[in-house]
Amino acid sequence: MSSPLRLGIAGLGTVGVGTVRIVQRQAATLRARTGRDIVISAVSARSRDKDRGVRLGDYAWEEDPVALASRADVDVFVELIGGEDGPAKAAVEAAIAHGKHVVTANKALLAMHGQALAVAAEAAGVSIRFEAAVAGGIPVIKALTEGLAGNEITRVMGVMNGTCNYMLTRMQNDGLAYDEVFAECEKLGYLEADPTLDVGGIDAGHKLAILAGIAFGTKVDFNALTIEGIERITIEDIEQAADMGYRIKLLGVAQMSGRGLEARMTPCLVPDSSPLGQLEGPTNMVVLEGDSVGQIVLRGAGAGEGPTASAVMGDVCDLARGLHIPVFGIPAAELKDTVKSNRETPSAYYIRMELTDKPGALARIASVMGEAGISIDRMRQYAHSSDNAPVLIVTHKTAKDALDAAIRSMPETGVLASEPVAMRIESI
Ligand code: HSE
Repeated sequence: MSSPLRLGIAGLGTVGVGTVRIVQRQAATLRARTGRDIVISAVSARSRDKDRGVRLGDYAWEEDPVALASRADVDVFVELIGGEDGPAKAAVEAAIAHGKHVVTANKALLAMHGQALAVAAEAAGVSIRFEAAVAGGIPVIKALTEGLAGNEITRVMGVMNGTCNYMLTRMQNDGLAYDEVFAECEKLGYLEADPTLDVGGIDAGHKLAILAGIAFGTKVDFNALTIEGIERITIEDIEQAADMGYRIKLLGVAQMSGRGLEARMTPCLVPDSSPLGQLEGPTNMVVLEGDSVGQIVLRGAGAGEGPTASAVMGDVCDLARGLHIPVFGIPAAELKDTVKSNRETPSAYYIRMELTDKPGALARIASVMGEAGISIDRMRQYAHSSDNAPVLIVTHKTAKDALDAAIRSMPETGVLASEPVAMRIESI
């Protein structure tokens, strides 16, 4: 049997503790599957005294994750600290400089510094593995870099923030307002320390930036994404979209066209009967499309101790087996710069607005849309007791430029009683 693979684990929060538990509980299985013992040499966290409900006494303790990453008895540095800069970045850089492989769950670090870290790791002859950074327990990085390596990837889509999906489904199923559900998530501890990372679409955007880089062979470029969170979604949007046969999701979509990369993490409508439409609660779903394979749908827990530690250990096992692939699937030096497409693929749109209830109001809006070259698929006006009539329009496939032009012209009609809300209807 080969020598043991020795881990140094930095960060003993939920995922760190979950990882320690798997190493302890599954020792025999891990040995059988990799042909090596997988052991922990040392750990590091902010507080040594905290009771984490797991046995840590056999492991050396380091106050400083950089020192942990540099230890001679560590082969793989497992970074579970989080944060795009600070100690996580310093420790990963130290690990690479000391010739250690890295396993990390840190999507922000990879989305912002992935290219530089990949260049450094590949020059040092070490691997960076990050299955746990995207969609928790779903092995989507492995699917893209290994299982689908024979495909040209045409589109990557997904619901990749469990908190947002929980919030949207709670609003949908229980008729609760955004603020009520947000307060509930705060109480339940579902939100990141900075909740904007969740509800502002940033956490999910980090994940999409990583997937897009791997899928299309480009440098991971978070700034090439269009990002919009769920903060402006109202219960009316949700109920009225449902009435038209749709669900609202914070959906990531990345596709490459001749014009460049189109990548956005924005609230979208999806058909309620589709797999994405049916996705409830904090679960994640990633949809991958390749020229040979067609469409694959992966669904599972996107966060939490067990699922995220499962992904960490999948990476550790690959390293134990000696599987080393370039960080983002092809060597970092060969990754192309990301060119951001200046146009979105045409799509159907949902538009919600209120109109002053007087003769010709609807006709004026329809005329603005016609002048912009937009064809209306369906239109619905709801019964109302006020002077303003709630109106929903679903368009046929239209260019985003035309939609923006129509929405810009709508105030000139003099019949708008509220700012129109427009959302893309994603075809899946
Ligand atoms: N806050 C994230 C989520 C955790 O809700 O999915 C994993 O990034």
